[in-house]
Amino acid sequence: MVHLTTGDSQLGRAEPIEDSAKVISRMVDLVMIRTFGQDKIERFAEHSRVPVINGLTNEFHPCQILADIFTYIEHRGSIKGRVVAWVGDGNNMANTWLQAAELLGFTVHLSTPSGYEVDQAIAGIRSSDSYKVFKDPMEACRGADLVTTDVWTSMGFEAENEERRKAFADWCVDTDMMRIAKPDALFMHCLPAHRGEEVEADVIDGPQSVVWDEAENRMHVQKALMEFLLLGRVKD
Ligand code: NVA
Repeated sequence: MVHLTTGDSQLGRAEPIEDSAKVISRMVDLVMIRTFGQDKIERFAEHSRVPVINGLTNEFHPCQILADIFTYIEHRGSIKGRVVAWVGDGNNMANTWLQAAELLGFTVHLSTPSGYEVDQAIAGIRSSDSYKVFKDPMEACRGADLVTTDVWTSMGFEAENEERRKAFADWCVDTDMMRIAKPDALFMHCLPAHRGEEVEADVIDGPQSVVWDEAENRMHVQKALMEFLLLGRVKD
């Protein structure tokens, strides 16, 4: 495995992404990129000779959602027809939950502070059939099979930290929200978590939380993804 940061590669010397993609993809079998704008990964992928995995962008976080869905299935079986409550930022995680809901047939209850809503066009989904929007995060959690959240400030948005702390104050997953969800509802968080901000300690450290399984499953599903991309199938 070769780990390259911008500074370790010619990208740090203003090489066009397209050229870096052509060079790097002649030397490796797979590329995973964690970056900011989704456009960067798409430009790289367009000029790459090998598969490019989205390791996180401002807009999407597919590897995490694969791990989350795998974790749900491991604990509760199929996610089809289930309700996932998203409490917090209309960010990369929220967008990818919506994509997954459309593909796999479940519903997302979205509750975001005003000004931080999900944009359906950015999320890249076809219709609004697989999600419902709630002003009140408690209402989003009512009857949910899974309650999930994320940091108030994602990577790259640190300058907005103070403003976000005020806007997100009521979007903290607490024990009342878990109580209004289904009795066997799970709690997930992609980590790192900030106890007392987006989630109460009693929830993330409580019996409904599966965050450590989720973290471990990042490794397993990414191994499966690499196998699939290299072999064109998952080995029996
Ligand atoms: N939304 C978060 C996910 C971190 C794994 C971020 O982009 O920083």
